[in-house]
Amino acid sequence: MAGSGTAHLRGDQALLSVEDLVVEYPTSAGTVQAVSKISFDVLPGETLGIVGESGCGKSTTGRAVLRLDRVTAGRIRFGDDWIEKADEKAMRVLRRDMQMIFQDPVSSLNPRRSVKDIVVEGMSVAGAPKADRAATSAQVLDSVGLAPERYSDVLPRALSGGQAQRVAIARALALSPRLLICDEPVSALDVSVQAQILNLIEELKAEFDLTVVFIAHDLGVVRTVSDKVMVMYLGKVCEFGDSVQVYDNPSHPYTRALLDSVPLTDPDKGFAGPALEGDVPSPLSPPSGCRFRTRCPNAQDRCATTEPEVREVRPGQYAACHFPLLPVSDATTSLTKQL
Ligand SMILES: Nc1ncnc2c1ncn2[C@@H]1O[C@H](COP(=O)(O)OP(=O)(O)OP(=O)(O)O)[C@@H](O)[C@H]1O
Ligand code: SF4
Ligand SMILES: [Mg+2]
Repeated sequence: MAGSGTAHLRGDQALLSVEDLVVEYPTSAGTVQAVSKISFDVLPGETLGIVGESGCGKSTTGRAVLRLDRVTAGRIRFGDDWIEKADEKAMRVLRRDMQMIFQDPVSSLNPRRSVKDIVVEGMSVAGAPKADRAATSAQVLDSVGLAPERYSDVLPRALSGGQAQRVAIARALALSPRLLICDEPVSALDVSVQAQILNLIEELKAEFDLTVVFIAHDLGVVRTVSDKVMVMYLGKVCEFGDSVQVYDNPSHPYTRALLDSVPLTDPDKGFAGPALEGDVPSPLSPPSGCRFRTRCPNAQDRCATTEPEVREVRPGQYAACHFPLLPVSDATTSLTKQL
């Protein structure tokens, strides 16, 4: 395994492998350290959930994988190809296999094009014959639950948020991708519609044999859909592992704090634990050592001087912490199960 903090990578069998990815944005105020040497991988057919507070680098990570954002350093392997330096022409071909759907479906759809044209725009760019495009459009619209005879000629403004997200998903599927990156795909939707879209993604995953990266700040959503979960804080990986294991027995204080910050299902009971205090420090000048140390209830001197590497703290569970948490008691486990 290359570099530091890559102990959780699973080798050649992964469809997507990201090693020591760094994404920095030069700005007039200084260099924004959006993603700082993170590593993760996703096996074929797996769903990896990426969670963390706003600004921790989730979208930047997703965009960097598709090379929609700059890659300052690090390596990205998709299938057999190392793509971190692939040119735009090569990426245009690769992106047929790696599709992304976004938080705001309406703004991601061209307002002047009909649903059927939007759905096959990637096929048009690739020069697919008209008859193939029409057949694929009808097929993928049907797969996402939109009757083609009713919706093909509709413009995006006539769609609800949930329907627009279905069109965006159909557009991604039209190219038969192997990897689908979903960046907060349900955050902008009503709660009732959220469940429908999550169920749809689950069904399509099996039907289209997809591997999924699912980005969300909602822990409940990530838990529902993910096999593995990666928790990020201020551009770093805090914890990585099997999602049930991480949610039931978090080993990183930040994961614990995130779980504690979730409102309980009964609103009168407030939150699961003490609120996460303080603001996230600026990515222009992150804290030395462990980036979570300014908010961590367990911080000690070493946390300010030495950066913790991602290491296996329990079988299959990895954390970047000098003092990982012990497994929680059965009583606390049953509390997190209510979330
Ligand atoms: N083009 C850019 N120029 C400068 N800074 C940027 C740029 N894009 C993102 N950032 C900064 O990089 C950091 C990571 O942003 P990112 O959008 O990846 O976070 P996120 O985890 O997706 O947050 P959210 O949950 O709000 O979507 C943030 O501090 C953000 O302000
Ligand atoms: S390394 Fe130290 S500051 Fe960071 S999470 Fe662990 S205990 Fe907290
Ligand atoms: Mg984002």
